[in-house]
Amino acid sequence: MEKIAILTRDCGGVNAAIRSIVRTAYKNDIKVTGVLKGYDGLINNKFIPLDRRSVSGIINQGGTILKTARSERFYNESEQKKAVQNIKKNNIDGLIVIGGNGSLTGAHVLSTKYNIPVVGIPATIDNDVNGVDLALGADTAANVALDALDKIRDTATSLERIFVVEVMGRDCGYIALQVALAGGCEEVLVPEKEFDIDKMCKEIKIGSSKGKESWIIIVAEGKAKGNDIANMITEKTNLETRVVVLGHIQRGGHPTSIDRILAARFGNYAVKMLNKSITDHCVSLKNGKLVTIPLEFAIKPKKIDVKAYYKLIKILT
Ligand code: F6P
Repeated sequence: MEKIAILTRDCGGVNAAIRSIVRTAYKNDIKVTGVLKGYDGLINNKFIPLDRRSVSGIINQGGTILKTARSERFYNESEQKKAVQNIKKNNIDGLIVIGGNGSLTGAHVLSTKYNIPVVGIPATIDNDVNGVDLALGADTAANVALDALDKIRDTATSLERIFVVEVMGRDCGYIALQVALAGGCEEVLVPEKEFDIDKMCKEIKIGSSKGKESWIIIVAEGKAKGNDIANMITEKTNLETRVVVLGHIQRGGHPTSIDRILAARFGNYAVKMLNKSITDHCVSLKNGKLVTIPLEFAIKPKKIDVKAYYKLIKILT
């Protein structure tokens, strides 16, 4: 293996993973090139050389130095063929794709349909890659959301209000559950669980009559719009409710130590996998150990144990 390429999405720890890949590769006399703007860059033949020095000072930066895009074009077979031609034209022997389900699905296509050696690194704030306990970026996102939540709590307590906080996660309730537990929230609404709004509002009214003054209710974006939930609460309880939609701040920010260390380990392992001719797999952490899992399995829907989280949140509220 003489030359590998890196293609990325953006979230906490991606730059640290690029650094780890580049430095591991050079240690093994492998050259590295970066694909600019994700799969669109692969189609448009946009590559930049990455040497040891080019990844200095990025370990603590959010986002991705390679830029990224949601590529609609890569769904098209003729565009996929252009990407494959560019991989060959640039003498790339293997590709490391850092991203979530969409990016890893593209990696699976390149490997199975076009025989390109590809290894994936799961990186998504949604933490919804199947078989992966913790994807890169999920810890940073939960911490960014938690930091915001702590600030919201200050004003919620002072003004004795109900706050509904909408968090990201696409169809997955991971961030919502993490934040609800770590932030000591009263209620959490996630796509993986049925929810009875009338029951919650009754509980709020009872609590209010007994002197409880503020509530923080987390809503995962995949379950409902925070605004709609806030309106329903006000309507059913007559209590003042405010809504905060945290949005894209959750995908940015300095990566946590957990994400930086995960990035160092994932990046190093991904290079070793390619060097051992492993393809169509992604790296994962199981019980603290690095393992490989087939991409076909990784891109299947992931189930999270909502019940256990929920039970604990309710006991501690
Ligand atoms: O998949 C990551 C994610 O941040 C989701 O949590 C969110 O639903 C989505 O991407 C937002 O996508 P975009 O940045 O394209 O608006």
